[in-house]
Amino acid sequence: MAFLRIPSEDRVIDDADAIRAFLLPHGIQYERWPVEGRIDGDAGPEEILAAYETEVAALKERGGYITADVVNVSSTLPNLQEMLDKFNKEHRHAEDEVRFIVRGSGIFYLNPDNGDPVYSIEVNAGDLINVPAGARHWFDLCSDRRIVAIRLFREREGWTPLYTGDSIADEYQPLCFGPGDFPAKGLEVGPSVAIPG
Ligand SMILES: [Fe+2]
Repeated sequence: MAFLRIPSEDRVIDDADAIRAFLLPHGIQYERWPVEGRIDGDAGPEEILAAYETEVAALKERGGYITADVVNVSSTLPNLQEMLDKFNKEHRHAEDEVRFIVRGSGIFYLNPDNGDPVYSIEVNAGDLINVPAGARHWFDLCSDRRIVAIRLFREREGWTPLYTGDSIADEYQPLCFGPGDFPAKGLEVGPSVAIPG
C-alpha cells in the first residue's frame, strides 16, 4: 500500500481512500491491484505482463496507452546510481508516467504548479499511479533499492525527462515507511538511507 506525505505539514496519509481523494484533484489516479499469488518470485517480464494482462488491457483502453513493458531495478545493477540520477532531479514528461508496482518500492515527489505544498507518494507492491504529463516531480528508491514495475506508454519518447533546472529535490530525503524500509509500516521511524546524488 502507498503512503502519502506532506513534509511541510508533517502529515502522513496511509488510508487508500484518503490517498485517492487527495490525489484526484492533482490529476493522479491511485489504484490497488491484487498481487498475492499472481506471479512467482523469479517471474520475468513476459510472465509479469501475462499475469496482469486483463488490468493492463483495461488501463490501455482507458488511458490511451499503446504499449507496456516491465522495468526491473535492483541494487545489483552496475549503473543503478547513474540511472537514478536521471530521475531524482525535478523534471516533467510530455506524457503520463504510469507505474504499477509488482515488487519493491519507490517514492515520487510532486511539486504542484498551483502553489500547493510538495508531497510524496511512496508506492509499494500492488500500487498503481500515473504522474500526469507536465507535472513537476522526481523519483527515488527506498532503502531496499529495489523496484519491479509495469510501465505504460503512449509513445516512448514522451517519457524523456525534461528538467526544470530547479534544485528543489535536494531539499528532500527519500523518506519511506513501507516494506521497502524497516521496520514495516513504522511511521515513527526516521528517514530512510538517502541515496547519494
Ligand atoms: Fe519522471
